[in-house]
Amino acid sequence: MIETLPGMTTTKAPFIEDAKARGEVYIRQPYELYSEENQETWRALYARILPKWQRYAPPLFLEGVEKLALDPAGIPKLDDINRFLEPLSGFSARAVSGYVPAYEFFESLRKRAFPTTITIRHKDSMDYLPEPDIFHDVAGHVPMHTSRRFSDVLVRFGEVALSASQMVAGIADETERIRRIASIIRAMARFFWFSVEFGLIRHGEELRAYGSGLLSSFGELSHSVESPMVQRVPFQLEWVINQGFDIDEYQPLVFIVDSFDHLFDLVEELGQWMRQGRLDNVSPGEPSASEEDIRSFLDARAME
Ligand SMILES: [Fe+2]
Repeated sequence: MIETLPGMTTTKAPFIEDAKARGEVYIRQPYELYSEENQETWRALYARILPKWQRYAPPLFLEGVEKLALDPAGIPKLDDINRFLEPLSGFSARAVSGYVPAYEFFESLRKRAFPTTITIRHKDSMDYLPEPDIFHDVAGHVPMHTSRRFSDVLVRFGEVALSASQMVAGIADETERIRRIASIIRAMARFFWFSVEFGLIRHGEELRAYGSGLLSSFGELSHSVESPMVQRVPFQLEWVINQGFDIDEYQPLVFIVDSFDHLFDLVEELGQWMRQGRLDNVSPGEPSASEEDIRSFLDARAME
C-alpha cells in the first residue's frame, strides 16, 4: 500500500524538521499527521510489551498505566494524558521537537513538565533506535509520573541543576567554570541514566525495572532482570557518578534501589555532593557534555 501521509516517523517527519528549522523546541502534537503505519507500530509495540510489564514492572508503574488510561489501540494524545496526569502529581507531558539541552531539560522537570518526543519509531526498528520516541517517552516514562514520590525525584533533579548553575556562575575563571560544569553535567547524566532510564528496584525478594529505557524495550526488560550476563548491584553514588555507559548495547551493569524513598534520598545526596565539590572532577568517559549542554548551564541565569 502506498503511504499517502508524510507521517510522524522518527527522523522522517517533515513537521518536526520544519519546527527545528524555525528553532521551535516546544511544539503542538499534530495528531492528524500520524499515518496508519505509525498507529500500527504503536499497537504492535504495546501488545508485545504488555505481558512483560505485568511480569517485570513495579506495581507503581502498572497503576500508572491504568490511571493514564493508555490506549493499546492508538498513539496517545498528550492532552488526554495530561488530563489524567496533572491532578495526580502536577506533572504534564509537553511535546518537543527533539533534543532539549541539559539545563533546559532539568529546568523543565523542576517545573513539572516532561519534554516529550512525539514521533514514533519506524516499524522496521521496533527493537532499538538511538533516539527517544513517543513509545519510550509516554509508555516508558510517563506512567511513573503519576506517582507523587517519583515525580518529586524528578523535581529534585531540576533543583540540583539550578544550584549547579548558580554555583558555577560564581567562578571567575571561564576555563575552570566550563571544566567544572562539564563534570557536574556528566555526573548528573550518569545518575539519571542509571536510575530514571535503566534503574531496578527491589520488590520483596524479586527485582523489578522502573527505568524507562528498560520499560520501553521488549528485549532488554526481561534481560535486565533475568540474564546472568547482567551485573546487578546496590545503587552506590560514588560508583554511579564515575561509571560510563554505552547507549547502543544492552546494559551489562545496572543499579538497584530499595524504594522510591531511597531514590529520593540519593538525589538529595547528589545535591549535597555537588555543593561539596564532589562532582567537580568525575571520571572521564561517556557521556560527555556537548557544548550546547554546557552553554545551557552557563546561560541559565539569563533564563530566570
Ligand atoms: Fe528516556
